[in-house]
Amino acid sequence: MNLSELSAQYDFTGRTVVLTGATGVLGGEIACALAGCGANVAMLDRNLDPLAGILELMGPDAASHAVGVYGDVLDLESLRKAADEIVARFGKVDILINAAGGNKPEATTSADRSFFDLPPDAVRAVFDLNMLGTVLPCQVFGKLMAERKQGVILNITSMAAFRPLTRIPAYAAAKAGISNFTQWLAVHMAQEYSPNIRVNAIAPGFFLTRQNRFLLTEEKTGDLTARGRAIVAHTPMGRFGSPEDLLGPVLWLLSPASSFVTGTVVPIDGGFAAFSGV
Ligand SMILES: NC(=O)c1ccc[n+]([C@@H]2O[C@H](COP(=O)([O-])OP(=O)(O)OC[C@H]3O[C@@H](n4cnc5c(N)ncnc54)[C@H](OP(=O)(O)O)[C@@H]3O)[C@@H](O)[C@H]2O)c1
Repeated sequence: MNLSELSAQYDFTGRTVVLTGATGVLGGEIACALAGCGANVAMLDRNLDPLAGILELMGPDAASHAVGVYGDVLDLESLRKAADEIVARFGKVDILINAAGGNKPEATTSADRSFFDLPPDAVRAVFDLNMLGTVLPCQVFGKLMAERKQGVILNITSMAAFRPLTRIPAYAAAKAGISNFTQWLAVHMAQEYSPNIRVNAIAPGFFLTRQNRFLLTEEKTGDLTARGRAIVAHTPMGRFGSPEDLLGPVLWLLSPASSFVTGTVVPIDGGFAAFSGV
């Protein structure tokens, strides 16, 4: 292989990517990178307010190959409608990235809220958003891939999936479920439909975003909480991740450069998972 053959593997021109949670902090960064590598990007989210800012970051010709599509990952009908819109616009779906997900303060233990008092509705909402919110898009968009006998799915799990973190029992269990489901779906797609459908996940370490800011920084001062400081101390690279740290591994898992990789969970964590603390 030479440099131009290697570079060609990262040319996504003509490939259509559906990205859920696309207007979130990590999703938005991934959307911009994929547009920059030539992909048609369908940015699916229930919150399309930040869309204009993301399109602006993509540059002047963004409107020709990137589009915002309303979709609720917990509502099959809205996903089917989104799929129809995306196929009408771009003709097919090659890649699905499930980036919608997150935690809730109400499903998190604290000095004021013990595990015994976590409201079932909040626990269920976190299970649903992460787990069902990954399964349903895989049903809708994975079916299109099964029909074409090719495609790539990328899920997002978490450090909490390998070993649960304190305070976030629902989120940790849901992310562990996503890791398990990633392996299950990789085997199912390869055996039942096509070995050319790959399913993998990334497990980001700690990135400051909307869904975890309440745990990692003090609302009034913006200083790190004790938990935020403990995370940085337990990350051998000594910092939080920044969204662009995800891009190399994400583009690799989506590209033909990883054509024999399926059913894996790739940590992007500055060494957090490798560090025993001693
Ligand atoms: N940040 C980290 O350190 C970290 C670490 C490991 C894993 N992750 C995972 O990475 C993924 C992206 O997280 P992020 O940090 O970028 O969070 P984020 O900024 O909160 O982005 C999540 C996006 O998903 C959207 N969303 C929520 N519920 C939805 C639904 N029912 N249907 C469609 N869209 C929905 C959110 O919209 P709203 O704003 O309306 O809620 C938001 O735009 C999540 O799965 C998260 O668990 C993050």
